[in-house]
Amino acid sequence: MIKNNTIEIVKNHIRIEEIIGDFVSLKKKGNNLWANCPFHNERTPSFSVSPNKGIYKCFGCDAKGDAINFLMELEGMTFVDAIKYIAKRYGVEIEEDNEKVDFNKNEKEFLYIIYDLAKEYFKNNLYNTDEGKQICLKYLENRNIDKKFIDKFDIGFSLNDWEGFYNFAKHKGYSKDKLINTGLIIHKEERNRIYDRFRSRVIFPIHNVYGKVIAFAGRKLSEHIEGPKYINSPESLIFHKSNILYGIYHAKKSLKEENNCFLVEGYTDVISLHSINISNVVASGGTSLTENQIKLISRFTKNVTIIFDGDDAGILASLRSIDIILNQGLNVKIVVLPKGEDPDSFIRSKGSKDFKTYLQDNTKDFITYKANILTQNIKNDPVKRAEAISDIMKSILAIPDRIKRTIFIKECSKILEINEDVLVNEYNQINDNIVSSNFNENNKLRLPNKNLNLKIEDIIKILEKEIVSMLLKYSNQKLSSDLTLKEYILNEIEEIQFFDHNCKIIIEEFRNQNAADINYFLNIENIELKNYVIDLIATKNEMSNNWEDRLGHHITKEENNLENSAYKNILKLKLYTIRKLIIENQEFLKTELKSDELQERLNIHSYLKSKEKDISQKLGIVALDIHKI
Ligand code: CTP
Ligand code: MN
Repeated sequence: MIKNNTIEIVKNHIRIEEIIGDFVSLKKKGNNLWANCPFHNERTPSFSVSPNKGIYKCFGCDAKGDAINFLMELEGMTFVDAIKYIAKRYGVEIEEDNEKVDFNKNEKEFLYIIYDLAKEYFKNNLYNTDEGKQICLKYLENRNIDKKFIDKFDIGFSLNDWEGFYNFAKHKGYSKDKLINTGLIIHKEERNRIYDRFRSRVIFPIHNVYGKVIAFAGRKLSEHIEGPKYINSPESLIFHKSNILYGIYHAKKSLKEENNCFLVEGYTDVISLHSINISNVVASGGTSLTENQIKLISRFTKNVTIIFDGDDAGILASLRSIDIILNQGLNVKIVVLPKGEDPDSFIRSKGSKDFKTYLQDNTKDFITYKANILTQNIKNDPVKRAEAISDIMKSILAIPDRIKRTIFIKECSKILEINEDVLVNEYNQINDNIVSSNFNENNKLRLPNKNLNLKIEDIIKILEKEIVSMLLKYSNQKLSSDLTLKEYILNEIEEIQFFDHNCKIIIEEFRNQNAADINYFLNIENIELKNYVIDLIATKNEMSNNWEDRLGHHITKEENNLENSAYKNILKLKLYTIRKLIIENQEFLKTELKSDELQERLNIHSYLKSKEKDISQKLGIVALDIHKI
């Protein structure tokens, strides 16, 4: 367990824009930084990070929290993981108590530890056993994989031993059943045999985005050995093949810097590209990209260059699956290598310079490439030609950006030697088909109901929130009266009953001095309250809360004069609270009442009315018409 004060020290190092910036490409706009939200699919940014407040919030899907929440939610880290990750990032030393991690409680934590242990075991095999040195290091040497990259990618070796890792881990005190659950050990029940999954193979660890080993791929050392060329770890709590890309951890920094991602097929291709100083590269592992993998890339860059191995059949088959990359709003380029080559073999045989020149000369935009290749041999076959046109139009349709679509239609009209109007027509037909298959008649889209007639309760709630949000944001700012804003507000609202449950709690926490400022709520265990606070203080820009878009005139913005804004908002809250009471009282007056009750209600009415007038006047001093303030 990490010591409490260590956690505090680590937290103090957090710069949320740096932590999130490691995973998402952020752009500064106003006081905040913005990105397309990594938690949901979107094409325009509604994910905001506020460095001042230390929080993130998505105005689209409502994901929110602080830097630690971000790591836990996006990367699936445990709390301890997140703290350790941050500590490592900022070079803070972690102090741990000796208490053992309770593995029964946290299966994920256990898997991370075992995979890390296995990684070290495989590395040790490579460097410190005769077998490793003589067979595997030789193999890597023959493949021109430099020591530097063996280290960087944590490459290891599994011995020619049925129980090598099993015995090693057993000695460390891990039970048989636990080990079988990791997938590193296989249990054949029929014969009651237990053995290592990886034997006699080069081990390529697969790292998640933040550098933890979550799986292994083992390549056989020669073509003569039986079994598949690669064996992979099975899916687990920490490894979902379709969510990860090989090399992403080592690529993420340069994906942002280069603003492009090379996509290759093989593990060794990634390593080879690194060896010639191209580090913005990831491998799909030979399968076409899934939506989650595309999302992963698009967190760092919107440009993908797919490097195809030079075999025709494979490329034609992959072309269709590229539409889903376009559909996520990414720009796709492609390079096809000479026949029979993959990036690794090309680099080894022709060298770095030739490879880079080849990339430069042969990178083509995907749509134009597709149009060219599909129409190459079918000029005289009208049916095939029609199919090809339809196929290309589907790809264009997948592009979310209208302007880009128009440009591509123009471009393809030239390549296909077809009038643009004909293409547009074809495009529209496909579009109609897609639309009608997705929406039946009962499922027509409706415009949102824009009813701006707010109920008095709504206005009260909004004012309550505005006041509490000022209380949170500027608690300890001094006013001209030498009071802090917190003291001022708490005084002024003494007699007001807040409706909103969470506002009430927040005010209480300030009153009984549990909370000194917003940090108290950002570190609180009550996640609902914490999220509520984040919602309150997260603003699209510092001056305007999102609810203001709808009802600007009912509340007063913070402006430069905190005191005045607080004063006005509190008065308005009082005013609306009184108006609400007046309405409620009037409801009573409409019913049949005994005479003493009636008198009482009438007294209340005139009391409230005089109060209302009072406050209106006070507000009138500030401005004449309350609705125009
Ligand atoms: N692959 C796999 N299982 C296999 C074969 C291939 O998972 N039995 C995946 C691996 O991710 C591999 C990629 O598909 O890296 C591409 O396969 P291939 O081109 O056959 O291998 P290379 O990566 O080129 O490996 P090497 O250069 O060592 O032959
Ligand atoms: Mn290869």
